[in-house]
Amino acid sequence: MKGDKTVYVCTECGYKNAKWYGKCPSCNEFNTFEEDVVPSEKAQRKSPVSSMLRAHSTKLDGLETPDYIRVGSGMDEFDRVLGGGLVSGSAVLLSGEPGIGKSTLLMQLCGTVGNDERVLYVSGEESGSQLKLRAKRLGVTASELFVLNETNASNIIAEIDDIQPSVVIIDSIQTVFADISSSSPGSVTQVRESSMLFINKAKAEGFSLILVGHVNKEGGIAGPKVLEHMVDAVLYFEGEKQHSYRIIRAVKNRFGSTNEIGVFEMTERGLEQVPNPSEAMLRERPKNVSGSCAVCVMEGTRPIITEIQALVTPTVYPSPKRTANGVDYNRMCLILAVLEKRLGLHFSQHDVYLNVTGGIYLSEPASDMAVCLALISGILDRALPDDFITFGEIGLSGECRSVSHSEQRINESARLGFNKIAVPKRVSDVKAPQGVSVHGVNNLFEAIRIPQLFVKKEENTVKDDG
Ligand SMILES: Nc1ncnc2c1ncn2[C@@H]1O[C@H](COP(=O)(O)OP(=O)(O)OP(=O)(O)O)[C@@H](O)[C@H]1O
Ligand SMILES: [Mg+2]
Repeated sequence: MKGDKTVYVCTECGYKNAKWYGKCPSCNEFNTFEEDVVPSEKAQRKSPVSSMLRAHSTKLDGLETPDYIRVGSGMDEFDRVLGGGLVSGSAVLLSGEPGIGKSTLLMQLCGTVGNDERVLYVSGEESGSQLKLRAKRLGVTASELFVLNETNASNIIAEIDDIQPSVVIIDSIQTVFADISSSSPGSVTQVRESSMLFINKAKAEGFSLILVGHVNKEGGIAGPKVLEHMVDAVLYFEGEKQHSYRIIRAVKNRFGSTNEIGVFEMTERGLEQVPNPSEAMLRERPKNVSGSCAVCVMEGTRPIITEIQALVTPTVYPSPKRTANGVDYNRMCLILAVLEKRLGLHFSQHDVYLNVTGGIYLSEPASDMAVCLALISGILDRALPDDFITFGEIGLSGECRSVSHSEQRINESARLGFNKIAVPKRVSDVKAPQGVSVHGVNNLFEAIRIPQLFVKKEENTVKDDG
């Protein structure tokens, strides 16, 4: 467009310059500069955003408290992450690696919502027949579902005006372009301008908007950082492609907590909800194997039980090898140092491989105790009892510190058949279900002295139930 100016913008911090930089002078990130086209002043004046009516300030006292109208998505796991369902007039950004299942999830959502509410599914990536094929494979039938294969933002807005949907899905925002700028779809300007159009429309008309966002090389959301500020909730759909479990996590939510996760399993019939993640995580747990310890962590308000595995082998390297999967590497090193110093276990002569099953990342210090006991079990080559579980934070002198939600954790553990639970002493007076022995421990010495903890020598083969 005539009179448009080109500037380069850092997608991380928003720093602008007329020249391209390999490294951002402001935030020092590499390869974050993208071309951005600033529309001429004339075009800006014509922009649908700037030409909106001038708003007037209102006294906060005079405003009514709104009742959020939530549209249940019909998928409890998805609603849980959103804080109870899609809020009318809000915008949600759903992001994730290519092929992780974003379109699958949204098509299934159309199936549950699309019978009662009018849904418009705009796809810039797939044709109508592709969408039909997917819907058929997933068994989605929705009488009020409209699909549109369009990438021009103004045309999409016109279609929204025509059919007046309650839910609009844009798959994906990187394929849409607004006429106002001449840069290509997916560029910083286009993503910003077109999402602004949709978000303003959603707020004005009260429909729920779901934008699908691509990720960049580093795994962050592609496009301008400001996009994450503009929307009301940012959800990440994560999981490893090799594993069938998928987790939705909110990194921002203006209408609910960001602690909740939703767990799904990818099957041939699409994504299936996993209402009971602990059972799913423990399904393939081997029995009577050294280095394995069950742990109960809280994900939001939900206790989840998973397994920590430690493989400890004599090292052949000058400096021993350590890998941590699902646990913070530095936290593992700290725990190894505590075990070496306080219990005199010589991990410095062993390689240590630590793994959390099910693709869960343990960010809570409450998993420390289980990491310790898995490592001790690994180095001694003695298995812990199969019905043993623990949680608690470990301090630098080997003391066991209390953590929150202990009652919930104990109850969930008991529900799944864990009858021997080691917990921090201060929280051990919780009323435990019948048949469950709760051992309160002050420190690691007391933990390893729990009667009959390391009595079984590992049998060399992994035994199954039979
Ligand atoms: N016919 C099929 N049978 C079983 N699983 C399938 C089939 N087709 C696709 N899938 C699964 O669905 C996944 C693709 O899901 P989907 O298209 O929803 O991903 P996406 O996140 O939308 O990807 P993109 O970012 O590329 O649009 C595949 O990785 C595969 O696991
Ligand atoms: Mg897709």
